[in-house]
Order: sequence, then structure tokens, then C-alpha cells
Amino acid sequence: MLRRLHHEQPESFAFTPANQEWARGQISKYPAGRQASAVIPLLWRAQEQEGWLTRPAIEHVADMLGMAYIRALEVATFYFMFQLQPVGSVAHVQVCGTLSCMICGAEDLIGVCQDKIAANPHTLSSDGKFSWEEVECLGACANAPMVQIGKDYYEDLTAEKLAWILDELAAGRVPTPGPQNGRFTSEPAGGVTSLEGERTEAHNGSVARAVAIGDTVKRIDGTEVPILTPWLQDEKPRSGRADGKPVSPFLGKAPVEKPVVAEPTPAPAAAAAAPATEGTRPAALEAAREGGADDLKRIKGIGPKLEQLCNRLGFYHFDQIAAWTADEVAWVDQNLEGFKGRVSRDEWVSQAKLLAEGGETEFSKRVDKGDVY
Ligand code: FES
Repeated sequence: MLRRLHHEQPESFAFTPANQEWARGQISKYPAGRQASAVIPLLWRAQEQEGWLTRPAIEHVADMLGMAYIRALEVATFYFMFQLQPVGSVAHVQVCGTLSCMICGAEDLIGVCQDKIAANPHTLSSDGKFSWEEVECLGACANAPMVQIGKDYYEDLTAEKLAWILDELAAGRVPTPGPQNGRFTSEPAGGVTSLEGERTEAHNGSVARAVAIGDTVKRIDGTEVPILTPWLQDEKPRSGRADGKPVSPFLGKAPVEKPVVAEPTPAPAAAAAAPATEGTRPAALEAAREGGADDLKRIKGIGPKLEQLCNRLGFYHFDQIAAWTADEVAWVDQNLEGFKGRVSRDEWVSQAKLLAEGGETEFSKRVDKGDVY
């Protein structure tokens, strides 16, 4: 299936304050220079917040992680779990169309979706409340046929039962997820033949959890669950213990060893990158001036990785970049391993001029506010 960005896009995207804080926690789980590893959780949260993944949301996440837009777009367009077009304001229905479900009546379920929602998948119903698609096996084959609606599974379905579920959702009620034919889990339809005994629970574990959380079709704004990144509240970031090791939010007080990733050793400026054939190498410094290097990440397009690369090339300060001539820009563009052409593309020089003079750009304001990591 061709996966493209939707032809209609909103003007902008912003995480809710709680989701922004949650995103900050996710990013903090990765070592310096590896923030891009948080791309999937952040894209997913953007989708949970909005229902689908818009272009501004993808670019916003890329900015937060210091990634080129194309890298985040590659992720968003590769994984089918990301919805690249608007979904129903009430629910998006994912009908399993793989073997067990197909044998047990998935086509009837698709028929219901076509009748009640839209003739074609990934199309909004006339009232905008629903959308649907056919998906591959969702791993609940013993309870076929089934659909996923929002976060939960509705199993052992019939066409009539699915039609009723959609009517209930349209009326603002969320039917209890799980088997819809009276089964507790996936025991034989005629009743259990082993592990007999009195059952005291009302629901199986998955359904009980879904009922307890109650977010089957809810858009997530970040206020639903505690943000479990205690190291962010500590004086030293990522440190929950006196010895600096993080405390797992999941295992009480048990320490979790984080992988130690050595910071790249800056190479002397003179020994950095092989000389390009194009342009002139700008003047480089052996080290940052007294007072320390500028935060080059305040320039849009420079993430942690590119900042390290600039430092290795001997560029530490805004005024250095601000002074580059076209010939020098051509040299740097050629020598940014893995990021060729980024100086011109993101107009570093004009940004650096403003910042060197003590001014601000829209992007640097966001960095200073803590909206970009
Ligand atoms: S075939 Fe439908 S859940 Fe596996």
C-alpha cells in the first residue's frame, strides 16, 4: 500500500504540556547523542494525542530530536501503525483480515464497516466519527474474528455484534472489550475441560485492565498516567541515587544499570574530516574559547550529533559560523559526514548571525523554553 502524507494538513502541531513533559522523560532515557532513539515513542504519542500523524507533528518530533525531517518521515511512513490520514473522531476500527479471522467471518465485519462507516478503508464516515481499515493478524486468533478499536480488542464477533458496538460508540458509550460471545478468554466454546473451578473475576486480565484504565477510545493528553522519570526531578539529571545511577520507575528502588556510552572523543580540529575538494576550509579553533562553547543546537537543523561534528571540525561559536563566506559554507557542507548540505539547507549562517548578536530566532526561543531537546 502506498503510504503518503495526507493532502490536507493542519498549520501546526504542539504537544500538550503534559505530553511535552512525558516526551522529555522519554528522551532522557537515551544517552547523549542518541536522542533519535525516542522517535517512535514520540511519534506514537503525537498520534495518540491527535488521532493521526500530521506532517507538522512529524516535523515537530524531528526538531525535538535534532533529526532531519526525512529521517522522521521515513519512520512514520514505514510503520503501518502510524495513521497518515485523519481518523474518526470517536474511533478508528481495525479489522483483522488474516487467516483465522477470515475463516471465521472477517468479511462480514468488513461489510459492517463498509455499510456503517465508509465504502473504502481510511475514509471518514459522513459524520466524521468513524474510520476503518483491514489489518494483519493482531494475535488474537483463538478469538476470531476480532477487531481492535482504539486501544482494545473486541473478540468473538459477529456482524450484528460489531454493528451494535459501533452504535454504542456513536452514542458515547464504550462497550466492554474482550470476547463478545460470553467466553471468559479463549476456552472451548462449550466450557472449560481442564483447570475447572470457581472463577471469581468478572473479566480476564486484559479486559479487567482495559476496564480499569477506561481509555479505549480516548485521545491521550498526558494527564492519564504518572510520568515515571524520577531522575528528571533530581538535581542531577537522570540520577536517582547518590552514586548517580538511575532508579527504575518500574522496579521500586532497584537500580537499573544504564548502558554506558562513551562520549565521542573530540579529534583535534586539524585532524578532522578529510579535506573536501570544494570550497575553502573556514578558520577553526583548537578548543572553545574561555567561557565555553555556544549551544549550537540553538541553530535550527543542528542536533546533538551535528553539534559534536561541528566541534570536531573546530567550530564552537555562533560568530564563527556567522562569518562563513559562501566558499566556506560549500566546504563545510561537503564535510558534514552523513549531513552533507545541511548548512545551506537550514541557513545556519543567517541564524548564527542573529544569535551571535544576542538576538533570537523562533527556533532558539523554543530551545530556550525547553520545547526542543
Ligand atoms: S488471524 Fe485475526 S487475530 Fe490472528
